[in-house]
Amino acid sequence: MFGLGAEALAAPTQAQVDAGRRLFARCTNCHEVGAGARNGFGPQLNGIVGRKAGSAPAYAYSPALRNAGFAWDERKLIAFIGDSEKVVPGNKMRFLSFMSEKQAGEIVAYLRTQGVAATPPAPAPKR
Ligand code: HEC
Repeated sequence: MFGLGAEALAAPTQAQVDAGRRLFARCTNCHEVGAGARNGFGPQLNGIVGRKAGSAPAYAYSPALRNAGFAWDERKLIAFIGDSEKVVPGNKMRFLSFMSEKQAGEIVAYLRTQGVAATPPAPAPKR
């Protein structure tokens, strides 16, 4: 059902990650990843695979996404990239993707390489 998209996720090749990096250019108007990524029009996406939906610190989510109540996995991300309204009705991401599942899978393979979810750094051990 998820075709090549899901295959890319099991063990993404470097070629798929590279393709995803190029495709992510369609997201960068609104989203940042990597060291120092900030929220923009959309939330930063570091560590998005496994991150709770609607949980980037200091980003003003729609109630729909803030209360989505799930953590992103690869399949949900691919589906959201394809049709965000179907996955989180009422969310405020307006993005007509015209992407194949294969391309969405490549983006997710790339996103998997980008950072970890923003958690406060562990306190330095005191001694
Ligand atoms: C026109 C701006 C825009 C573009 C382009 C865009 N997004 Fe978004 N995205 C948003 C906004 C705004 C939200 C927050 C939606 C909300 O709060 O309902 C969002 C939310 C998300 C989320 C949920 C984040 C979370 O913290 O739960 C993901 C994942 C995401 N976008 C991925 C992508 C990807 C991947 C692309 C490119 C294929 C993309 N977006 C393109 C504006 C955009």
